[in-house]
Amino acid sequence: MPDQSLDLPLEKIPRHVAIIMDGNGRWAISRGLPRLAGHKAGTENLRRVIRATVEFGIKYLTIYAFSTENWGRPPEEVQGLMLILQDVIDRELNELHKEGVQLRHIGRLERLEPVIQQKVLKAIELTKNNDRLVLNVAFNYGGRDEIVQAIQRMMKDGVKPEEVTDELVGQYLYTAGVPDPDLIIRTSGELRVSNFLIWQAAYSEWYITPTFWPDFDKEEYRHALETYSQRDRRYGGVSEAVANKTNG
Ligand code: IPE
Ligand code: IPE
Ligand code: MG
Repeated sequence: MPDQSLDLPLEKIPRHVAIIMDGNGRWAISRGLPRLAGHKAGTENLRRVIRATVEFGIKYLTIYAFSTENWGRPPEEVQGLMLILQDVIDRELNELHKEGVQLRHIGRLERLEPVIQQKVLKAIELTKNNDRLVLNVAFNYGGRDEIVQAIQRMMKDGVKPEEVTDELVGQYLYTAGVPDPDLIIRTSGELRVSNFLIWQAAYSEWYITPTFWPDFDKEEYRHALETYSQRDRRYGGVSEAVANKTNG
């Protein structure tokens, strides 16, 4: 049942929302806490945002949790983030499963520690038939890496140059079968894409807020969705109102 407080016509609700959950470190530093405390607070917030996503009736949510570039952080922070991922799976999996969330992973799973790989695969297997919300977790994900791998796999499959189309490339990406994100939210004010869904975001709408991720609450989420509902998505054409005038 969609949340009554999201007072939008169905066609104005994005099918797919993607979030760059940024600003955990600065949230912690501003409180005199270690950066890892910010990542923990960010995880708590993630739980709330997943719930809200289900309540709002959104079908796909993709969250950017760890990039292929984040390995360049201090080893304690990288290790802390790996432990947080395992912890989240251990603590949240059953609840998410009960709520009808289907978990998927996008990124280089095979480059994570075997214990993490096993937990992730188990979560995917357990939830594979759920259909209330598809939650793509981008962990060890990079958009360029995704495209490089797609090219490699196409070549291995013997795809001929003239067979390469937008659609075919899409089928070789991690997100095969998932609609492109309608709305991408980035918290903490950075005006960059940071290697997130660079192919899929070709015509996504953006909502960028100075709020740090741990403070991004349901009210602001609702505001982001309302803002999105007012966008005029032209895809390089002219807006519907203008087209109707010209044709009529
Ligand atoms: C986002 O918060 C979480 C990850 C990248 C893992 P950051 O850790 O990037 O927080 P800031 O940008 O340093 O404040
Ligand atoms: C992007 O945030 C990655 C995640 C949120 C997981 P970063 O904090 O790593 O991005 P940059 O370094 O500011 O571009
Ligand atoms: Mg950051």
